[in-house]
Amino acid sequence: MHPLNEPNPSDPSGSAVPPAANWTPETWRSRVDPTAKAVVAPYPDEAQVRQAAGVLGSLPPLVTSWEVERLKQLIAQAQEGKRFLLQGGDCAETLDECTPGVITAKLKILLQMSLVLVYAGKKPVIRVGRMAGQYAKPRSSMSETRQIDGQTLTLPSYFGDLINRAPFTLECRTPNPWLMVEGYKHAAMTLNFVRSLLDAGFADIHHPEYWDLGFMRHADLTPELRDEYSRLKAMVADGLRFMSAMGQKPGGDPQSVEFYTSHEGLNLEYEAAQTRTVPRRSGHYNLSTHMPWLGERTRRLDGPHIEYFRGIRNPVGVKIGPSTTAEELLRLIDALNPGDEPGKLVLIPRMGVAKVERVLPGLIDAVRIAGRRVLWTCDPMHGNGIVTSGGVKTRSFDDVLAELEASWDIHRAHGSFLGGVHIELTGLDVTECIGGSAGIRESDLSRSYHTLCDPRLNYEQSLELAFLLARRMQRVSAEPNTGVTTPPAFDVGDRHRH
Ligand code: PEP
Ligand code: CO
Repeated sequence: MHPLNEPNPSDPSGSAVPPAANWTPETWRSRVDPTAKAVVAPYPDEAQVRQAAGVLGSLPPLVTSWEVERLKQLIAQAQEGKRFLLQGGDCAETLDECTPGVITAKLKILLQMSLVLVYAGKKPVIRVGRMAGQYAKPRSSMSETRQIDGQTLTLPSYFGDLINRAPFTLECRTPNPWLMVEGYKHAAMTLNFVRSLLDAGFADIHHPEYWDLGFMRHADLTPELRDEYSRLKAMVADGLRFMSAMGQKPGGDPQSVEFYTSHEGLNLEYEAAQTRTVPRRSGHYNLSTHMPWLGERTRRLDGPHIEYFRGIRNPVGVKIGPSTTAEELLRLIDALNPGDEPGKLVLIPRMGVAKVERVLPGLIDAVRIAGRRVLWTCDPMHGNGIVTSGGVKTRSFDDVLAELEASWDIHRAHGSFLGGVHIELTGLDVTECIGGSAGIRESDLSRSYHTLCDPRLNYEQSLELAFLLARRMQRVSAEPNTGVTTPPAFDVGDRHRH
């Protein structure tokens, strides 16, 4: 928690809003959430936690306050309908999967999805990975019981590699504070590789001929959809060619592709240890990530997580599930963004397709009537979990798409607009979610099921989702009166720097 010397200290943004009153990075410790025990198992040795946090606090930050403020500005523009937010990545990153192949594939799918959305929505896309720190997972049960060699064994649940390890042994499952330092180092390596790939151009993104679009040839696709996919693909390719004809080299300019990180701010020991002041700015920044988010299970108004989140300068996301009432949401907004700061708050509803029509309209109306500034996005993953008859956790591509499309329509019907999506995905060829035009069936799930937590869309399903959302966006931009401002931008990402 030392003050840092950063570049660009002259950027004054963020200082207009006074720091939160009666807050320090440690005030959350005075709040006890009786349900939090079911979220993270406690560490057995407090002295070790203090030592590990001390090490963490002495290491250099992963991101700078300048980047954090820049993301806030971009989100502020998204709140005005001028940008779209794409947030995506694994449910849980693991230390073992901090490998070049996994990172490259994830970055590639996120960037390709963003390009599809840029061209369809005619507005720049803010790219935020669930990456470089998404290592902590809330669980609904503190412990897990298994039968091992005829014996019943109960151990702490697996809470993500930042807290304990997945193998079902006492040693692995006991929360270990030094994993915070390990997680931090892996986040640093991930981010370092992402920054290098982007600086070097990363050709796979910008040449649709390298895209893996084999799924388009699949028999399950209707001729109409096949035509639309081909048209969209041609449009993206044309746009990229146009840019190079104009002398703009996609990816050639180190600043040309901006990418931001996010993770669930679950383990407050980890978050607090990297929360710092910086010279010439007021307030504290969580410099372990650009945009931490508050999970559905930890956003209790009187809980420690809200207390921590209310004080940091970062833009923050908050998940809201189907039990959220309008009153609760307005109180959440008040707590997290009392000054109505632009770009500060991203709402991430995760209602599930069965409930979204019933719950979302009232929340949208309440926020609109109260005149509060938020960015509405949609997480169509976490409300749509199902378990197969064989006991495998999965999600149906159709449900995911249906919630996304319903959210899009509900916003439009309520004088609002969907400003982003939040997706659990991987760039790899896994079989964890069913459906999509590549036709993954229940019987395929065992073929390549790797997630340690929630099932993710694979490369093809993710790209297809982007195409289908793009189709929706295009239909809207073709309509005469949308009630939503769609600026006529032609901009791959953030080429026009501010
Ligand atoms: C998640 O994003 O992985 C998650 C646990 O989500 P939620 O808090 O919405 O359940
Ligand atoms: Co998840």
